[in-house]
Amino acid sequence: MANVFEVLERDHQEVKRLMDELEERPRGGADEQERMRQRKNQVRQLIIEESKHEAVEEEYFWPAVRDLVPQGKELAEHAIKQEQQAKYVLNDLIDYEPGVARFEEMLGDFINDAREHIAYEEEQVWPELRLVISPERAMELGTKIQKAKRLAPTRPHPHTPPRPGLLKAAGPFVGAADRIRDLVAARTRH
Ligand SMILES: [Fe+2]
Ligand SMILES: [Fe+2]
Repeated sequence: MANVFEVLERDHQEVKRLMDELEERPRGGADEQERMRQRKNQVRQLIIEESKHEAVEEEYFWPAVRDLVPQGKELAEHAIKQEQQAKYVLNDLIDYEPGVARFEEMLGDFINDAREHIAYEEEQVWPELRLVISPERAMELGTKIQKAKRLAPTRPHPHTPPRPGLLKAAGPFVGAADRIRDLVAARTRH
């Protein structure tokens, strides 16, 4: 059992860990091809984690912020704009190969923006929500988010409007289709 802040923080930690790994200087030894294969896997993992996380925030977190926080509408709008932009970049990243200049440039931009987005949520939004949310509702929201993550889409879907309700209606199907595509992509790469 964990409340909404604990659940989201765990996700943020995981995303930050993956981004730190991607920024590490390559260690000597491993051959270039192997290194690029690893990098591709790390990016794939980042896309999966980030897609699931933002999808469940859209479905459950932002509606709660809008509902409970006095300036919630504005806070949510700003954050969702950042999330949408990130989805377009991630969607493009799927088609590029690591090592290619364009890929590395897009990834670098994504990482900067993602850190900014995470800081915005943790520093601007969470403190406001903490002031007004009851412990019961925080737990309930955490549980819902954890459950929804199991079926959430693992790809960014930038063309789907970031509205709550869509995930409830289409999420399990989109999530399942994404997982099949992830598997196929993983197999063809070996
Ligand atoms: Fe977010
Ligand atoms: Fe987040």
